[in-house]
Amino acid sequence: MNIVFLGPPGAGKGTQAKILIEKYGIPQISTGDMLREHRAKGTELGKKAQEYMDKGQLVPDEIILGMVKERLSQADCAKGFILDGFPRTVAQAEALDKILSEMGKKLDFALALVVPDELLVERLTGRRTCKSCGMMYHVKYKPPKVEGKCDACGGELYQRPDDNEETVRNRLKVYHESTAPLIDYYNKKGILKEIDGSKSIDEITKQLIQILEGK
Ligand code: AP5
Ligand code: ZN
Repeated sequence: MNIVFLGPPGAGKGTQAKILIEKYGIPQISTGDMLREHRAKGTELGKKAQEYMDKGQLVPDEIILGMVKERLSQADCAKGFILDGFPRTVAQAEALDKILSEMGKKLDFALALVVPDELLVERLTGRRTCKSCGMMYHVKYKPPKVEGKCDACGGELYQRPDDNEETVRNRLKVYHESTAPLIDYYNKKGILKEIDGSKSIDEITKQLIQILEGK
């Protein structure tokens, strides 16, 4: 099952991807998480990406595409994968089609989570993420049992530097300009499914499973 998650920042792509990878035993490939790992390790790639990420701008394709191609060629992607946060432009989507066709693969589903902008600002400014395992929480919608600590691993929760209101608004602008055209791109390919992402986390998961299992 080869899946792409679409949707604006804060739509719940990462939250749902983490639930589905457990259920289906396929990896989540989040370009945002990969870039943040590079930053944490202080690699050259991470240093280059930092200035774009902190302003809410897209990191250049030459950095992203090499990273994704290498990841997709790893053995754990043989049974399928969930791409989260990639592609983000039509150029990236075309490059992905080419990478997959060279591997004799194709996408099965493009799942788009639809959420109004105002809700996204609230979701992102209230998001907290576990430093150790990457699990996402929300101060109002998904609070941890113990404040500041991850339920899953006890790790410390932190706020992403790009989750302040100013950067969030810029990320939304970039989304509408550069990423939203992908909805049309995948619709024309006949693999697009749109889901109301303003519902509860559980309701959205149910709908996604129904779509993936063809019910
Ligand atoms: P990235 O890490 O991909 O961030 P994003 O796309 O902005 O998406 P988010 O992770 O913010 O949102 P999400 O949809 O996963 O939401 P989540 O599930 O956490 O990218 C960061 C930066 O990296 C970019 O700005 C760019 O610079 C760079 N980058 C990455 N990929 C790139 C690429 N391909 N090309 C170029 N540059 C790239 O949910 C958000 C919050 O809401 C959480 O607190 C969660 O608990 C809560 N929540 C989730 N679902 C619900 C619900 N149904 N109801 C209530 N609350 C909910
Ligand atoms: Zn954790």
